Amino acid sequence: MALRMEFTGAVLQLGALAVLFSGCSPEPDVPHVCGSQDEFSHLSQQLQLTADSQVLSSISKLSQTLHSHHLNECDGAEPLNCTAAQAPENGGLLCVSLNHRRFCKPLCNHGYDFMFLRSSRLFDECSEQTSYTWNSQYVGGNQLAVCSKSPVTVAGAKTAYFPKEQDCLQSKANNTLHAALMEQFYRELQSAGHQGEPHSTCHVCGHMR
Ligand SMILES: *[C@@H]1O[C@H](CO)[C@@H](O)[C@H](O)[C@H]1NC(C)=O
Ligand SMILES: *[C@@H]1O[C@H](CO)[C@@H](O)[C@H](O)[C@H]1NC(C)=O
Repeated sequence: MALRMEFTGAVLQLGALAVLFSGCSPEPDVPHVCGSQDEFSHLSQQLQLTADSQVLSSISKLSQTLHSHHLNECDGAEPLNCTAAQAPENGGLLCVSLNHRRFCKPLCNHGYDFMFLRSSRLFDECSEQTSYTWNSQYVGGNQLAVCSKSPVTVAGAKTAYFPKEQDCLQSKANNTLHAALMEQFYRELQSAGHQGEPHSTCHVCGHMR
């Protein structure tokens, strides 16, 4: 009985993870993002064929695989000299490359606010112009923002928060919402004078605490 419940829970979790990966980008310049789907199908098949404790072990392996891909989804984007920025806990990052520059926009989940005032700072940049470091408020790191629990959200720009009841993961799984958030980000980049064809986009979520 206990095993059965555990199994049901794990399958539900798998379903949620599958949704996340259905939105994965088929862009040719980020093959590793979708490469994990093969592994996903393989493990899913294994899952259907096995009916004992091996199932749980497969699920565990699959979660780890997905988790590591999830964390590295933004790796390998142009410019290659830039390290991937780290998604804040209780929030996430939207990233895009444009004109040999990498831009990431941190967003906090609803109910969380930025620890440092960044209302006039919509995104951070890593490029030759920034000596291939993130020009964040933190010195020398790839952590761009910190989201802390807060009843009011005043430290960030209006568009720097995921909608209520649609946190980073849910927004990522919802194609409509994801596209709207990316569109908004492109508009903000354009307003700041960054033209060009956006590519190597990613949407990563930090852990929820
Ligand atoms: C990376 O940085 C080095 C030195 O800063 C530079 O010579 C090289 O061209 C850069 N590579 C890329 C891919 O931008
Ligand atoms: C996806 O997001 C849109 C826009 O916020 C919302 O109207 C819609 O209900 C969401 N769909 C799901 C399945 O949550």
